[in-house]
Amino acid sequence: MGIREDLARVREEGLAAMAKATLGEELEAARLKYLGKKGELTALLKQMGRLSAEERPAMGALANEARAAVEAALETASKKLEAAALERKLKAETVDVTIPGKAPKIGHRHPMYLALDEIKDVFVGMGFTVLDGPEVELAELNFDRLNAEESHPSRDWSDTFYFDRDERVMLRSQTSPMQVRAMETMPLPMRIIAPGRVYRKDEVDATHSPMFHQVEGMVIDKNVTMADLKGTLNLLVERLYGAGTKTRFRPHHFPFTEPSCEMDVQCHKCGGAGCPTCKGEGWIELLGAGMIHPTVLEMSGIDPNVWSGWAFGMGLERTAMRRFKIADLRLIFENDVRFLEQF
Ligand code: PHE
Repeated sequence: MGIREDLARVREEGLAAMAKATLGEELEAARLKYLGKKGELTALLKQMGRLSAEERPAMGALANEARAAVEAALETASKKLEAAALERKLKAETVDVTIPGKAPKIGHRHPMYLALDEIKDVFVGMGFTVLDGPEVELAELNFDRLNAEESHPSRDWSDTFYFDRDERVMLRSQTSPMQVRAMETMPLPMRIIAPGRVYRKDEVDATHSPMFHQVEGMVIDKNVTMADLKGTLNLLVERLYGAGTKTRFRPHHFPFTEPSCEMDVQCHKCGGAGCPTCKGEGWIELLGAGMIHPTVLEMSGIDPNVWSGWAFGMGLERTAMRRFKIADLRLIFENDVRFLEQF
């Protein structure tokens, strides 16, 4: 058989092999078989030397044409395989946007902060400003400027977290230093509340924690009386716990108020008859309060003959526990989602 026939045959076989390859490996095998260094077309080209000078140009052209055709077929086939692979990949990775999604787990507002929001609402509605203050506080503001005598028991190492031996810097044991900070910075008359964390060296139990929250409240104006204090606190309690909720005010002592009192709310469990929740008292203590001591006003440069004021400090955990009928303080701090989600 002559080279011309061989060329025609190899050309046809090469084209067919390229066209029918459905896998990358098959195509590569075909490329090697026809176009590779030891491939059939290459072998034929090598035989050109045997041809006569007259035959060579025509046959050479034919051979180049065959090679070009097979190369073009390889190119086409390789593009086709690439396209098919892409198609397969897209199919495999299709996102079905109609499948219902997984709802992302978002947190839940803590019942104590729900209660705080209600408290803020009541006071902001009455024109109070909400203040934020430092938890690391000067003993001067936590005690001295609040008229606490040098021997006051809460100043002791066993009650208070100090940072230094001189007992000058501490974790605030009450939000009351915010009274002083407000008096130093706010124009008169003023109405403020200041919620935040406070710290005392208490063991954890059903009603105690070394860290808890208070909300401080203070009004300074002209002709402010204890009646305003009672009216405001009664309104707060009715808004939190429902109309008709009863309160009682008992005389008490705080160094920075005079007179001072504690306010109890009638027990929500027994309605005042006495039960385990209120330890048989019928009442639950909610806050301390009183008329700001003239000495405290004076220490912050406010003339007690012109201005008067009242202040209170309420336990936020306790308020929330009564608001949401929670029996154990530890539930407030454990943050078990199953608990939190109930509110
Ligand atoms: N700071 C007091 C306490 O922690 C509460 C209080 C605040 C009392 C303001 C009177 C006025 O017990």
